[in-house]
Amino acid sequence: MSPRRPPEVPGPVLLDEAEIARRVGELGEDINEYYHGERIDEITVVSVLKGGFIFLADLIRHLRVDLRLDFMAISSYHDADDRTRGVRIVKDLSESIYRRHVLLVEDIIDTGLTLSFILRNLRDREPADIRLCTLLDRAARRIAPLELHHRGFEVGDEYLVGYGLDYRQFWRNLPSIHVLEDERAVEAIS
Ligand code: PRP
Repeated sequence: MSPRRPPEVPGPVLLDEAEIARRVGELGEDINEYYHGERIDEITVVSVLKGGFIFLADLIRHLRVDLRLDFMAISSYHDADDRTRGVRIVKDLSESIYRRHVLLVEDIIDTGLTLSFILRNLRDREPADIRLCTLLDRAARRIAPLELHHRGFEVGDEYLVGYGLDYRQFWRNLPSIHVLEDERAVEAIS
């Protein structure tokens, strides 16, 4: 076995598969209710790679509205105190969102700086509207205020992995969300 291979389970479970599945189903119903209520029958679902892809895949299977799916990828860096974040688009949407109803899906919102950048960028393309859906909200760390329309769970300051979330690209494939608290787990791949 490679000495750099991380442990299979990085720490205790914060949200297990059943809890996540139940909440994702509820979010799907809330989203359906909103769009049906507004008589909107076609939307564009936008996800920011990579972390949100598992949540996105589960969420859209609950949606009962015609949808197009599109992806953006960004590269970002932030300074030591997280006060500034440089964001650059490395993969843009493949279709226009002009006059379309956009549902932006994220796995986690932390400082809000990434999403603020993306929102500014997407608004310039004149969509009909943009709604935000995140599975996890680390609201206590918010720097850039955001209006979240659909939110799965509020979480604390713990470093989380699994269900799409990574630590140095590891553990995205875990079905549950775990707290990465075992320092040996981190040291093993540092
Ligand atoms: C995560 C998440 C958001 C961003 C939120 O992505 O998917 O895009 O961080 O952080 P912020 O609110 O502080 O800006 P990450 O940079 O971990 O990349 P990944 O999706 O490829 O894992």
